[in-house]
Amino acid sequence: MIDTIRFSISIKEKLLENFDELIEKKGYGNRSDAIRDLIRKFISESEWEEGDKETVGTITLIYDHEVRQINEVLTDLQHNYHENILSALHIHLDKHNCLEVLAVKGKGDKIREIGAKLNTVRGVKHARVTLGSTGKSLL
Ligand code: NI
Repeated sequence: MIDTIRFSISIKEKLLENFDELIEKKGYGNRSDAIRDLIRKFISESEWEEGDKETVGTITLIYDHEVRQINEVLTDLQHNYHENILSALHIHLDKHNCLEVLAVKGKGDKIREIGAKLNTVRGVKHARVTLGSTGKSLL
């Protein structure tokens, strides 16, 4: 059982007004929900910034499958990181372009390294790493 506590914070009135306006727009039920969400986001981001913490994320790729050897290069690269790549979803977007979404797990630095390597493959038009979290420290 995890205890819930109450705490108060000091904040400039105008800043709080801006915050309240924004959380209403975003559909939060109350300030506590919004603050909890922000704290979780802050913790997830720090897991990534530190680089040596176990985390999860996705890498989204768009590439032209007709570029010579690209499938071999991408497959080799993914095999080299088989311990980090949990799953891959492949969608043929149109005659030329493929969308691939990789679910990845590992240290933040390692995941960024995979994203950077995929980005440099000839024919890859877009490779973006999306931050996730194992959820363990988010409660
Ligand atoms: Ni395809």
